[in-house]
Amino acid sequence: MGISYDERNMSFKLDTAKVSYCMAVADGYLGHSYFGKRISDDASQLLRIKEAPYTPDKNARDKLSFMDCFPMEYPTHGTGDFRGDALKIRTAGGHRVCELRYASHEITKEKKRLPGLPATFGDKAESLKIKLADEIAGVEAELNYSIFDDNDAVMRSVSIKNVSNEDIYLERVLSAAFDMDNREYSLITLNGTWARERHIDIYPIGKGFHGVSSNRGETSHQHQPFIGIASKNISQETGEVYGVHLVYSGNFQATVYNDQFDRLRVMSGIGEDDFEWKLSPGEEFVAPEVVLVYSSEGLGGMSRTFHDLYRDHLIRGKYRELPRPVLINNWEATYFDFDDEKLVKIAEQAAKSGIEMLVMDDGWFGNRYDDNRALGDWTVNEEKLKGGLGKLTERVNALGLKFGIWFEPEMISPDSELYRAHPDWAIAVPGRKAGLCRNQYVLDITRKEIRDYVFDAVAKVLDSANIEYVKWDMNRQLADLGSLELPADRQGELSHRYVLAVYELQERLITKYPDLLLENCSGGGARFDPGMLYYSPQIWCSDDTDAIERLAIQEGTALIYPLSAMGAHVSDCPNHTVGRNTPFETRGYVALAGTFGYELDITKIPEADRKQIPAQIKMYHRYHELVAKGDYYRIASYHENRLWDAWMCVSKDKKEALLTFIQVVGRPNHHSRIVRLSGLDPDKKYRLLSFDMENAEEKIISEVCLKGDTLMNAGLVIPQLWGDNKGLLIHLVSEG
Ligand code: DGJ
Repeated sequence: MGISYDERNMSFKLDTAKVSYCMAVADGYLGHSYFGKRISDDASQLLRIKEAPYTPDKNARDKLSFMDCFPMEYPTHGTGDFRGDALKIRTAGGHRVCELRYASHEITKEKKRLPGLPATFGDKAESLKIKLADEIAGVEAELNYSIFDDNDAVMRSVSIKNVSNEDIYLERVLSAAFDMDNREYSLITLNGTWARERHIDIYPIGKGFHGVSSNRGETSHQHQPFIGIASKNISQETGEVYGVHLVYSGNFQATVYNDQFDRLRVMSGIGEDDFEWKLSPGEEFVAPEVVLVYSSEGLGGMSRTFHDLYRDHLIRGKYRELPRPVLINNWEATYFDFDDEKLVKIAEQAAKSGIEMLVMDDGWFGNRYDDNRALGDWTVNEEKLKGGLGKLTERVNALGLKFGIWFEPEMISPDSELYRAHPDWAIAVPGRKAGLCRNQYVLDITRKEIRDYVFDAVAKVLDSANIEYVKWDMNRQLADLGSLELPADRQGELSHRYVLAVYELQERLITKYPDLLLENCSGGGARFDPGMLYYSPQIWCSDDTDAIERLAIQEGTALIYPLSAMGAHVSDCPNHTVGRNTPFETRGYVALAGTFGYELDITKIPEADRKQIPAQIKMYHRYHELVAKGDYYRIASYHENRLWDAWMCVSKDKKEALLTFIQVVGRPNHHSRIVRLSGLDPDKKYRLLSFDMENAEEKIISEVCLKGDTLMNAGLVIPQLWGDNKGLLIHLVSEG
């Protein structure tokens, strides 16, 4: 692992154990020469500057032709490179041309944090800073690259400085771009809607622009700030794939442009819709980090690199290591219709079943009897919770359960004390009535007084009782933006400032309450992004808790996120979103692939289901370490085959593994299926055990132990299960 500079070729090379990332300076321009499987040389010849139309110093009459094919590492607007710009400025004179040339570089043995922004961190890191400059426009760009000693990802970020004497406006500042030849690659994106987030799409890259974006002020249910570029016939364990993931929680764009020469330009960064940033002389703008992953070991190789990176270098706090308490959340149990007695009854039964925490969801404050009112009034509704929060938490704690609470700090209802006192605190364009969504407005937390109000209101509640978990929700998107504080030429900064304000609030929260378990959420999974993972080790995956719908959602999520980050609960049937009935065991197996908890009225579910809960919790404790810290291997995709699903979690030392198998559709006269496993040690002998729900213990499946190579190449016979939506777990433990 290391970063090197070769003076002769003016070339840069970043090497991790398996990956190389190369650049070189040609005629003053910084070009991208290679990103892929680790190589020995610097690849500077891949800049192809000896081909016509040559570099401008040899052929100035055709500069534009050169600019339009040179693999520019950080392309800028107005130079003749028509394949998409990472940077677009506007000078005080209204001009947009910017041409960045190499100025200097520095290699260091550390990775710096990004001010105000989430970013990966770690002690054993190396970084490269390359300064590019346009002296005429008075702009400097600092390109930052980092690698860690124990991971194959390459991290990039950019900061832009105004070194002129006049204001400069940034119209687009993307965080990364790189070019490469198209080898019949396909594009992978994660898309959806409410209750159907992050479904995997793979499609061939035709000519022109392709990609995903959000202009909704948050990451969104619709798209993920991720694109993958995969070789033809990519599979879980074979083929090449590049993963590009933005560590950010607001508007984004992630694109690929396939040009006239069948070369790709990959770009990722803050979405340019609703974005403009004024830089006064001497000021600097820092753009968020992008994570670049290359795998020559298929999609699975990419997933595992992302998982390790996020677990080891992004997630913080004590719960990064600790098992998450098994919680029961009252949302699907009661919605708004609850009081202290109902919650305590749920807690009593939960305690008997071995559940470890009660989470009180939306509806505990102000006159919040439905979702039309009271957001912003963060005082306890004592009609519902008699004696207040202190009393309720004491009763819950006395049962041996921790207590958690829901907030939606960024919002304000028009029918609230807060709005009546401060109608001007909602984001709105002066003179226009702001648009409602779920009957709520968005607080302008970019204003310090409002941010402080929000923080103090949340802190006051947290200080009033023994609260050990917070679910931070956000249930609408940002649309008609207007700031009362910002001048006209800074209105375009509102959406990015909003994201920075969310980050600042969450940083304050986890700093003041370091033991708090924070779970982010946005109407389900609309803020499932690496930015939020920096503040909360887990994020609510989706409001769709149906086990079968969750197969596709969790498969898409696990493509890039560790299972330890995925909020997943066992809920009641018929499922509240799709009306499907699924066996209680299966609901448990699917929730086990995430943080594991319950979201149902435990006092009302069928006795047979309730009886299974202690066994399920035992199952969670038996396997959570494997799930949370192991390597993830996808064996089958229900999203693709519509029949069955399977995945494995394998311990790092390969001494044990857990196979989860879900048969979605039972078929007549199909006796069994041979399933080939992955990720095992070919030379280790594994004993096969199943988890017996009735007795809450493991059972040996057969006295015969099988070697890893047999299980991976020949496979394991999984019998046809009786019925739809059935599942089983197989625990593999190596002998000796
Ligand atoms: C959306 C969340 O995803 C749900 O889990 C629940 O907390 C509701 N909001 C409450 O309004």
